This record gives sequence, structure tokens and C-alpha cells, in this order.
Amino acid sequence: MPLLGVNIDHIATLRQQRREFDPDPVKGALICQEAGADSIVAHLREDRRHINDRDIIALKKSLRIRFNLEMSVAPDVVAMACKVRPDQATLVPERRQELTTEGGLDVIRNSRQLKTVCARLADKNIKVSLFIDAEKDQVDASKKLGVPFIELHTGPYAEALTARKRETELKKLDSITQYARSLGITVNAGHGLKYHNTVNIARIPGMYELNIGHSVISYAIFAGLNNAVREMKRLASLS
Ligand code: PXP
Repeated sequence: MPLLGVNIDHIATLRQQRREFDPDPVKGALICQEAGADSIVAHLREDRRHINDRDIIALKKSLRIRFNLEMSVAPDVVAMACKVRPDQATLVPERRQELTTEGGLDVIRNSRQLKTVCARLADKNIKVSLFIDAEKDQVDASKKLGVPFIELHTGPYAEALTARKRETELKKLDSITQYARSLGITVNAGHGLKYHNTVNIARIPGMYELNIGHSVISYAIFAGLNNAVREMKRLASLS
């Protein structure tokens, strides 16, 4: 059974709508920890659109479980990671205009820059993971960089419009997982995983950890809305 990393970015997305304090992603992370999450993932984007520097400092201080910082190779973000020292850093490509991470890193093309960043992070005892598409060449390039982890991009599987395409993507994820493991790399997976499509990925033999965000935070809103309305109704009726 794979471990579960919960990505809390979208608690911060809601907070940033008002630029106030609620909902606090750190409080959310502690609830995830209490509920059995094995790690917390937060993406410090270059534009700080949701998670900010203060959040990651507080997460590092507050969590008992692993803190996995998702990040690009932007110099100020790398400097912040080296200062805060999360347990793990997952390197992702980042485009300012994107709504969410759109694809895996091109480790082959960017190997020189990635090598420097991986070395800086490893020097601070941060375990590095590379978010890549399920392709053998990208695994080989990751192996050359000596990273202990990769995270396979499950977006193409999650977004497949036909059962056939979904099956093809699932098979690819399975075979690339086995290939990476044969090279001694620990394999995680994530992106676009929902309540209806996660089980197949969780069943891939040797899958170490799944990183899931949007669907968990979306579920939480509806799981809590009934109580939230009842409490406000109670307060309103006290007048
Ligand atoms: N893994 C990586 C590398 C990601 O970029 C994201 C999105 O921030 C996730 C996992 C989580 O994706 P989702 O929010 O679709 O569950």
C-alpha cells in the first residue's frame, strides 16, 4: 500500500482570495497529519500565488510527518528551500501563466541546471525527487543525476478520455515504475488523482507514495459545509 502525501496548496488558494488569515494551510496540514497523511506537500511557486514563505517556515516547524516542498529551480525558491530545509524537495517545471503544473521536467535537456540545484539541496540533507513524465529516457537521466526519488506524472492517465487510453497510460506508469525501481530509484506518483481513479495507481507494485491535493481539498469543502451552515445559523438565531 503506498503512502499518502497531501498537497495543501488549495487551502492557501482560498486564503489568498481575501489576503487574510483564513483558511490557514498550516492548520490544514496539522489536520491532515492527524488524519493519517504520511507527508505534507506544498508548492512554493515563483509568484507565491498560494503558499508563501511564511507558510513553509511554519510547516517545517509544526509538522511531525515529512514535509515535501514542491518547487521550481528559480534561484530565490532554491535559496528559500536551502534556508528552510524541508525533508524532501520535488522539482517541477513552472510556467507563470499555468493554472497548475502541466507536464514533467525535461531532465535530459535541463540536466546541467538540475545537477547544480540537486547538489545544493542534497548538501542541506534535503532528499530530492524529480517530477517526470513516464518515459524511460527521463528515468535514465534522473538516474544519472543520482536522485533518490522520482514522481511520475499521472495527469495523462487521469485526463484520458477513453478506457483504452486510460489502460495504456496505466500500463506505461506500471512498466516505468518497475524500470525505475530496478535502477534503485524510489517511485512516487501524482497529479489529477481523484477518488474514482486513484485505486489503479495505488495497486502498481512497489509504488511508494501518492501525492494528492485538489480532490482531497474539494472533498473537504463538502464534507464540512453542513456543519459550517448549521453553526452560522445557530449564531444568527441567538440575537
Ligand atoms: N504532484 C505534483 C508534482 C504536482 O505538481 C501536483 C499539483 O500541485 C500534485 C502532485 C497534486 O495534484 P492534484 O492537486 O491534481 O492532486
